[in-house]
Amino acid sequence: MSSRPGILGIGDALPPFVVTNADLEGRLDTSDEWIVRRTGMRERHWLQGSETLADLAASAASAALADAGLAASEIDYVIAATITPDQLTPGLAPALAAKVGIERAGVVDLNAACTGFLYSLQQAAALIETGQARNVLIVGAEALSRITDHEDRATAVLFGDGAGAVVVGPVSQGLGIAGFEFGFDAQLAPLLYAERDERKLRMAGQETYRHAVARMTEAARDLLARLELDASEIDYFVPHQANARIVTAVADALGVQHERVSYNVEWTANTSAASIPLGLARAQRDGLIGPGSLVGMVAFGAGFVWAAGVSSWKDGARPAQPRAGAETVETRS
Ligand code: ACO
Repeated sequence: MSSRPGILGIGDALPPFVVTNADLEGRLDTSDEWIVRRTGMRERHWLQGSETLADLAASAASAALADAGLAASEIDYVIAATITPDQLTPGLAPALAAKVGIERAGVVDLNAACTGFLYSLQQAAALIETGQARNVLIVGAEALSRITDHEDRATAVLFGDGAGAVVVGPVSQGLGIAGFEFGFDAQLAPLLYAERDERKLRMAGQETYRHAVARMTEAARDLLARLELDASEIDYFVPHQANARIVTAVADALGVQHERVSYNVEWTANTSAASIPLGLARAQRDGLIGPGSLVGMVAFGAGFVWAAGVSSWKDGARPAQPRAGAETVETRS
C-alpha cells in the first residue's frame, strides 16, 4: 500500500568550537567588515582534533528521532548526505546508524555536494511511497573545515562544519513531501571542485555566485509552477546557505519577503549538505515553522548541480488559506 511521505522530526548539531570573524582576522588578511558585508557570515563551527563527523551526525540524528517521537528500531533506512565522511570508506551512514542504536536498516551515503539533502529527501520519499521503507532517517553532515585551504582568504572564511537530520515517514495531513526539481551542468565543474589528492575546495567565487542565483531561482520557479503554487503560499523558504547576498537575490527574484527566509549562514557559514536541515531546525526552534507550514528549499553546489523541493512540515493541516498578507508580495530594496 502506498503512503504519503512527510517530514516527522528534525534535529541538528554543531561542533562546540566556534570560529568568529575576529578569530580569522588574526590569521588572515581579512576583516570582520569584509566578511559580513560580502557574505553575511559572523561565525562558523569547526570539528577539532579527534572529534568525528559520525558523532556529530549521530547527535543530530538522535535529536531528530526524539522530535519525531520514534525509536531507533522504527527506522528501516538511513541516508547520509556528505562530501566529507570521516574515512574514504566505509561511509558515514553505517557508523552513524550504529551510534544511534539502529540495528537493522539499509545504510547508504549520498554525494551530491550542496544538493545532497534534497536528493536524500527525494529518495526517502520514493522509498516510502513505494512501500520499500516505513521510516527513513536522513542526515546532511559535513566537516568542510577538513577540506578548506586555511591559508587562502578567498575560501578560508566561507566554510563550516555541522549536521542536520530529519526523519521521513507517512503523514495523513497536508501535502507531505510534494515535489522536486533537479538539474546539472558538468561543463562548469572546473569553477568549484576539490581534487582527490589535494583535498581542498577551490572556487571561482564570482562566477559561482552568478550561476547559483540564476539556477536556484529557475529551479524554484519551475517547481512552484509545476506544483501550481505561488511563492506567497510558501510559509518559510530555506535556500542553501552559501552567502547571504545569494539568499537575498534568490528571495527577491521569487518575490518572497525576507522575514520568511532563512539567514542561518550568519551562524554556520556554508555547511554544504548540512545547510538546509540546519536552517530548518533553527526555524522550528524559533517558532517560524510548525505543523502544516509549507516549506520551500533550494540548493546549488559543485557539479554544478542544483535542486529545489517543497514539503509541508510534520503531520499537520495547512493553516487556513489565504495566509494573512499572502496576496501582497513585497520585496525589500
Ligand atoms: N577578506 C578580504 N578580502 C577578500 C577576501 C577576504 N576573506 N576574499 C577575497 N577578498 C578580496 C579579493 O582578493 C578581491 O580583491 P581585489 O578586488 O583587490 O582583487 C575582492 O575581495 C573581491 O573579491 P571577489 O571574489 O570578487 O568577492 P565577491 O564579492 O565575489 O565575494 C565570495 C566572494 C564570497 C566567494 C562570493 O563570490 C560567493 O559567495 N560566491 C559563491 C559561493 C557559492 O555560491 N558557492 C556555492 C556553493 S559551494 C559549496 O557549498 C561547497
